[in-house]
Amino acid sequence: MNELKNTLLLDTLNGLTTERTPVWMMRQAGRYLPEYMRLREKYGFFERCQTPELAAEITLQPVDIVGVDAAILFSDILVVPQAMGLEVQLIESKGPLLPEPVKTIADMQRIRVPDVDETLHYVFDAIKLIKQQLNGRVPLIGFAGAPWTLLCYMVQGKGSKTFDEAKIFCYTQPALAHQLLQMITDTTIAYLKGQVKAGADVVQIFDSWGGLLSKGDFETFSLQYIRQIVAALKEEVPTIIFAKGAWHSLESMAATGAHGLGIDWCIEPQMARRFAGNKVTLQGNFDPAKLLSPIPTIQQEVKQMLKAFGGRQHIANLGHGILPNVPVDHARAFVDTVKEFGG
Ligand code: CP3
Repeated sequence: MNELKNTLLLDTLNGLTTERTPVWMMRQAGRYLPEYMRLREKYGFFERCQTPELAAEITLQPVDIVGVDAAILFSDILVVPQAMGLEVQLIESKGPLLPEPVKTIADMQRIRVPDVDETLHYVFDAIKLIKQQLNGRVPLIGFAGAPWTLLCYMVQGKGSKTFDEAKIFCYTQPALAHQLLQMITDTTIAYLKGQVKAGADVVQIFDSWGGLLSKGDFETFSLQYIRQIVAALKEEVPTIIFAKGAWHSLESMAATGAHGLGIDWCIEPQMARRFAGNKVTLQGNFDPAKLLSPIPTIQQEVKQMLKAFGGRQHIANLGHGILPNVPVDHARAFVDTVKEFGG
């Protein structure tokens, strides 16, 4: 494989001291980039995901255009429910729709733990192509949704602020919920191992809806499954858990042995460090909406964030995905300020 020229991200995750803080942005390949929008006019969302040449082109866009220190595979967390047998649509300006969600024992008959080499080979093909095209410039992050966040979509059938139907499913049919979560977990482990085999250098688990659960329910319905995934992967590549809003569980997430933990802007870096302990690397936590501020404000606030993290064991990132209306030069200002910060 190609030797990596930029090892900032991997070194930081492995606890080594680096000359500066690495930087990338969640959802960095996407609608704020005019180059992405041009491809979006021509091809459907899953067509973009399933065509390795398109996925590779989109993955490389933010590396070329904004100069991030890592590429993240262009795909979606919902390709896993799709591979498990559910129909998933992406409705323009509305978000994901699963027309036949899982609610009952009978619905469970429609899903399975698939052979990932059969159903998700296009992701592995994309990764191989991306690695070739990156040619060692920066590492490639693979990813998957956390089982709880995937259950949210598989049961609710669409996006939601509260995911109340998913919660009702878990609280009233816990045995069925755990059966579903375990099926997702088994699929995800095979899927992420396939990504690593194809060339992913790091994997991140997105638990975007982890913060909807209490600490106890987060352990029951989310963390015990994330723990299995981290255990299966952590000897192969560094792992990052991003459980948005689940600050109460930073200590138990650090105890999984994950190399990195993502945090959002609602917790201060010093407090996150106190909860997470000194071993793990923290990733975050710029409020994505702040990228809409004037550039001098962005520069000032990014420096403030870097100081608060203390210049070690930190990956600069947003606290959630970049918004589609962010001007490209604002995204670049975020990245450049991190790169130029003196420590
Ligand atoms: O980070 C990257 O650049 C890689 C690509 C990536 C996408 N989705 C592409 C995408 C990643 C890592 C994801 C993860 C994802 N997808 C999550 C977890 C992270 C998070 O933001 O919380 C979730 C919850 C999803 C589900 C999903 N996919 C939603 C809710 C939506 C619609 C809302 C939105 O942001 O557009 C999508 C669609 C989606 N996934 C788009 C992209 C670029 C937009 C598609 C388009 O309109 O072109």
